[in-house]
Amino acid sequence: MPTGNRTARLAPFLELTHISKRFGGVHALRDVDFDIEAGEVHCLVGENGSGKSTLIKIIAGVQPPEPGGRIRIEGRDYAHLNPVQSTHCGIQVIYQDLSLFPNLSVVENIAIGRHLGRPRPVDWSGMRRLARAAMERIGVALDLDARVADLTIASRQLVAICRAMAADARLLIMDEPTSSLTRHEVDALLAVVRDLKRKGICVVFVSHRLDEVLEVAERVSVLRDGAKVGTFEARDMNDHKLATLMTGKEFHYDLTETDLSDRAVVLSVRNLTRAGDYREVSFDVRAGEILGLTGLLGSGRTELALSLFGMNPPDAGEIRLNGELLHLKTNAEAIEHGIAYVSEDRLGLGLVLEQPISSNLVVTMLDRLAGRFGLVAPAVRNAHVTRWIKELAIRVSNPENAVKTLSGGNQQRVVLAKWMSTNPRLLILDSPTVGVDISAKDGIYEIVKRLAGAGIAVILISDEVPEVLYHTHRVLIMREGRLTAEFAPHRSSEHELEAAINA
Ligand SMILES: Nc1ncnc2c1ncn2[C@@H]1O[C@H](COP(=O)(O)OP(=O)(O)OP(=O)(O)O)[C@@H](O)[C@H]1O
Ligand SMILES: [Mg+2]
Repeated sequence: MPTGNRTARLAPFLELTHISKRFGGVHALRDVDFDIEAGEVHCLVGENGSGKSTLIKIIAGVQPPEPGGRIRIEGRDYAHLNPVQSTHCGIQVIYQDLSLFPNLSVVENIAIGRHLGRPRPVDWSGMRRLARAAMERIGVALDLDARVADLTIASRQLVAICRAMAADARLLIMDEPTSSLTRHEVDALLAVVRDLKRKGICVVFVSHRLDEVLEVAERVSVLRDGAKVGTFEARDMNDHKLATLMTGKEFHYDLTETDLSDRAVVLSVRNLTRAGDYREVSFDVRAGEILGLTGLLGSGRTELALSLFGMNPPDAGEIRLNGELLHLKTNAEAIEHGIAYVSEDRLGLGLVLEQPISSNLVVTMLDRLAGRFGLVAPAVRNAHVTRWIKELAIRVSNPENAVKTLSGGNQQRVVLAKWMSTNPRLLILDSPTVGVDISAKDGIYEIVKRLAGAGIAVILISDEVPEVLYHTHRVLIMREGRLTAEFAPHRSSEHELEAAINA
C-alpha cells in the first residue's frame, strides 16, 4: 500500500470503540477508540502508566474491557475476546519479556505453538520446515538448534517474531521491543517491521523512543492518563510535538555549569584493569558531581561499574572512597561502604516483581530498620515505605500490591528509592531511564540532580548521548575498555560526543 496517499483508507482490520478498563480505583483506560488499518504500522505512545499495555492486553483477549465497549475485527463484533479467539483472528502479541522458553532451541520456540495439544508425536522435520519458512518470511537466518538462552536479546526478539509468523500473524503487536537493543539492532528490527508491512501484516509498535516511532509509523496514537489524545499521521509529527501531546507540557533540560574543583574527591579510580573488560582506567568523582559515562555497548562501562560495586573484582589498580583504599569482594561490602548501584535491568537485579512494592522498598534497609531483636516493627517499616513513595512520587494505589502491577517508570522509581534509602555516598546509575517515558525521565533527572545537590557523587552511565550531555557535569567516553575522551557538556555538542564514541 502506498504511504504517500493516505486519503484512500482501507477498511480497518481492527476497530475498538468505547474501551474502558478499571483496576480497582485506577482508571487505566477511559473510553478509548482505536483502529488499525490493513497493512499499516501504527505506533502507540504515552507516558508510563498511560494504558498502552492494558490496551494491548484487551486486544490479545488477556483482559476484558468494561461492558459497553466494542471490538470489531474484519467486520465481526465482540464484547470482549479471549486469547484463543484473538489468536484465531491472526493477532499475535510480543510482550516485553518475549515469553520464550530459554532452555529450548530456536526451532522449538518458533514451532512449538503449532504442535502443542496435538495427539500425534512431535514431527521434528515438520517443525524445522515451519521454522525455516517463518525465518524466510522475515528475511533472517538464525541457528535453528541454538538454545534461546544463549542468544542476544535482539536475536531472541527475532525468534519471537518468527513464532508469531509461524502462527500466521496478521496483526503483530510489539510492546516496547527496542528498549534493550542497541541502535544497530533497532535499525535491523525496524527493517523487519517494514518488511512485514510490505507483506500486508499490520504492526502495532509501542516505544518510548520517539525518533524510531516517527521513522517507522504511518500513524501514531497518543494516550495520556488512560484517555486517547488523538491519532495522527506520523509525517505531520515531530518528537517535540509528540512529547507535548503525551505530557501536556513543554520540556527543556539543563544542568547549570558548576565549578566543582574545590569539592572533596569521593571516588578515585587509578589504573583499574580487568582482563577482557577494561584497562588502565583512571578518574575521580567529586561530592556533588554527576559524571556521565558513555560508549558503545560492550565498551566495558557496565563491567567497570560492576567492579566499583564489588561484583566484578579488578585484576589490578586502585579504588578509593573518601581516600580509603577498598578491596571489594561482594556487593554487600560495597553497600556497607556507601556505594549504591541502580542497574538498567529493573526486571533482573533491580526488583522482585512478584513481591509487594513495600517489601522491595525495604529490602536494602532491613539491617538498619531492625530493632534489638533483628525484627522490623510494622510502624517503622510503614513509615519508611510511605516516606519513599512520597519522596519519589511513585504512583501506587496500594504499597502491598506486587511490583509487577506498576508501570515501567514507576517500577524504576521503586528501584531508585530502594537504593537512595541506603544513604549512599556514591550512586552508580546504569542506564536508569531505559524504557521510561519522557516525563518520568524528567522526574528521574530531577531526583539525580537533587541527590548530587545533597553531596552524593553520581556516575550516570547511558547509551543516550543527550542524556549524558544535558544531565551531567562532565562526560567520559569509554571505548574498547579504555577511557578515550572527556567532555565538558556546556562546551560540547551531541555530534562531537557521537564522533568520539564511534571513533
Ligand atoms: N493488573 C493490574 N492491576 C492493577 N493495576 C494495573 C494492572 N495493570 C495495569 N494497572 C495500572 O493501569 C495503569 C496503566 O498501566 P499500563 O501497564 O497499561 O501502562 P503503560 O502505558 O503500558 O506504561 P509503561 O510505559 O510504564 O509500560 C497503571 O496505572 C497501572 O498501574
Ligand atoms: Mg507497558
